[in-house]
Amino acid sequence: MESSFLGLALAAILILRFSTPVNSSCSATRPSPRNVDIRYVEVSCYNTTLYPKLCYHTLAIYASTIKRNPKLLANTALNVSLVNTKSTSRLMKRVHRIPGLEPRVVAAMLDCVEEVGDSVYELRRSMKEMGRAGGSNFSMAMNDVETWVSAALTDDDTCLDGFAEEGMDRKVKTIVKRHVQRIARLTSNALALVNRYASTRASLP
Ligand SMILES: *[C@@H]1O[C@H](CO)[C@@H](O)[C@H](O)[C@H]1NC(C)=O
Ligand SMILES: *[C@@H]1O[C@H](CO)[C@@H](O)[C@H](O)[C@H]1NC(C)=O
Ligand SMILES: *[C@@H]1O[C@H](CO)[C@@H](O)[C@H](O)[C@H]1NC(C)=O
Repeated sequence: MESSFLGLALAAILILRFSTPVNSSCSATRPSPRNVDIRYVEVSCYNTTLYPKLCYHTLAIYASTIKRNPKLLANTALNVSLVNTKSTSRLMKRVHRIPGLEPRVVAAMLDCVEEVGDSVYELRRSMKEMGRAGGSNFSMAMNDVETWVSAALTDDDTCLDGFAEEGMDRKVKTIVKRHVQRIARLTSNALALVNRYASTRASLP
C-alpha cells in the first residue's frame, strides 16, 4: 500500500504507450467532427493513462472543447482533478466533525483535511504554471507543472496511508477510500496527460 501511488505516478511518467486495446464501440458510426473529437479523447486515455475508463468517462463530455488539442486535454484533466479534489476536501472537513469518532480516527481525518487541502493548492498552482508554459519557458514551466501534480498525488496517497492500518472506523475508512482513491486516480491520469503533452512538444524541432 505504502507509496503505491508514487509508484503509479512514476509509471504514468514512464508509460507513454499503454497497450490496452481501445474499445471500438464508435467505429460503426459515421466519423462526424464530434465523433472524431470523442475518439481522440478515448484513444488518448487508453494510450496514456493508468485508469482509462475513468479518464474517458470524465473527459469525453469536454471533447468538443478539447478539439484534439493535447494542451487543452491536459488542462481539462487537471481542472477535472481540481474540481473533484475541492469537493473531496469539503467532504473531509465535514467527516472529521462526525460526533463520537475515536481520537485516532479524528487525527487521521485531520491529516487528510490538511493533505487534501494541500492537493487543492498544488493542482491550482499546476494549472497556473500550465498557463505560463510557452515559447522559451515551455520545458521549465512544464517541469513545474509535473512537480505540482506529483505533489498533489503524494498528498492524496499520504491521506490513504493514514487509513491503511487495521481497526480504523469502517464507515469513515470506506468514505475516505472511495473519494480519495478517486481523486488520486484522476490526478494520476492528469499527470500522464500532462507528461504526454510535455513530451510531444519537447520532441518538436
Ligand atoms: C495512440 O497510439 C497509437 C499506437 O502507438 C498511435 O499510432 C496513435 O497516434 C496514438 N494516438 C493518440 C491520440 O495518442
Ligand atoms: C474548470 O471546471 C469548472 C467546472 O466544470 C468550470 O466552471 C471552470 O470554468 C473550469 N476552469 C477552467 C480553467 O477550465
Ligand atoms: C518567461 O520567463 C521569463 C523569465 O523567467 C519571464 O520574465 C517571462 O514573463 C516568462 N514568460 C511567460 C510567457 O511566462
